[in-house]
Amino acid sequence: MNKFQAFKVYQENKKVLGRLETITIDDLDTGDVLIRTAYSAINYKDALAGTGAGKIIRHFPCIAGVDASGVVVESQDKRFKEGDPVLVTGYEFGVDHDGGFSEYVRVPAEWVVPVPVSMSLFDAMAIGTAGFTVALCVQRLEENNQTPELGQFIVTGSTGGVGSFAIDIMSSLGYEVVALTGKSDNNDSLMSIGASHILDRNKLKLDGPLLEKGQWGGAIDNVGGDILAWLTRTMNPWGNIAAVGLAGGFKVNTSVMPFILRGVSLLGINSQGCPTHFRHQLWERLAGDLAPKHLDKIVTNTIELEDLPSVFDNMLAGKTTGRTVVSINPDE
Ligand SMILES: NC(=O)c1ccc[n+]([C@@H]2O[C@H](COP(=O)([O-])OP(=O)(O)OC[C@H]3O[C@@H](n4cnc5c(N)ncnc54)[C@H](OP(=O)(O)O)[C@@H]3O)[C@@H](O)[C@H]2O)c1
Repeated sequence: MNKFQAFKVYQENKKVLGRLETITIDDLDTGDVLIRTAYSAINYKDALAGTGAGKIIRHFPCIAGVDASGVVVESQDKRFKEGDPVLVTGYEFGVDHDGGFSEYVRVPAEWVVPVPVSMSLFDAMAIGTAGFTVALCVQRLEENNQTPELGQFIVTGSTGGVGSFAIDIMSSLGYEVVALTGKSDNNDSLMSIGASHILDRNKLKLDGPLLEKGQWGGAIDNVGGDILAWLTRTMNPWGNIAAVGLAGGFKVNTSVMPFILRGVSLLGINSQGCPTHFRHQLWERLAGDLAPKHLDKIVTNTIELEDLPSVFDNMLAGKTTGRTVVSINPDE
């Protein structure tokens, strides 16, 4: 029986611990499509799951990793055949079903997305859940009439994976992008991926009145908490905020004033539960009009499975920037 490596997360003595171990195909959760993984990538959620810092994994043990790209080895579903380049993100992958930090993954066919023709397996994971989430933000912003004319577009958690793609893609779409960051030494790299201005998160006054001077035409927010509350108070009339993340907290203390006096909209973004047909369309857009222009700069690190724990710790400490790709079987 073919043996291979996977990063499996256990709950032992009430502690969550992840470790690399040798398993076989029979150990994987069941599914219609077996894929030999080429690449995965690390998202904030993976760092929470892999260390137990957040309650992400719903059954133990479970292989972590919410992203994977690779090649179909066998499929019981007619939509896929041996050799097809595919990717998997979201659904229960790496949460309640064995995920992408593994040399093989086996998933329901419904979760499998063909990699767009012009996209490599590496680029599919460089983009991964982070880039896909930004494509979903763009779709929702467009549906709610976001335009560059509404004013400057602010991205929070700018140096992170989602933040980097938000800057790249929104600037390509013609928005004047303001990057809010807590990392003062990253200004040049943020400008190089499309930011027009940098704002220091540590210098913000977060205890303002119910409404402040309108500054932003729209926002993609990866931070939540006090920063999201501040965004609601400082939006221009009819501005949209795509609420993506909680890196800075999950409670939001604001009032109805921005919503009823300025028509501000708060758009919920849930990439995990995005329906299949819509998911395929967004991946095609990521290979077309939303293709990131600075992937080479956004991917700051390429690691192997054994390096996962050290990157998790750095990510949770807010020390990582951009995207970390996990190289698993790069020859695919
Ligand atoms: N809703 C969805 O479908 C969805 C999808 C993907 C991700 N997410 C969420 O989106 C967020 C970003 O994900 P990611 O993978 O891009 O993570 P990431 O790479 O770790 O980026 C998070 C960024 O947030 C900022 N940050 C970190 N800790 C902070 C704190 N305590 N206070 C304020 N800012 C802080 C940092 O940017 P600066 O230093 O530049 O400020 C950091 O680089 C996470 O909360 C993740 O769970 C949600």
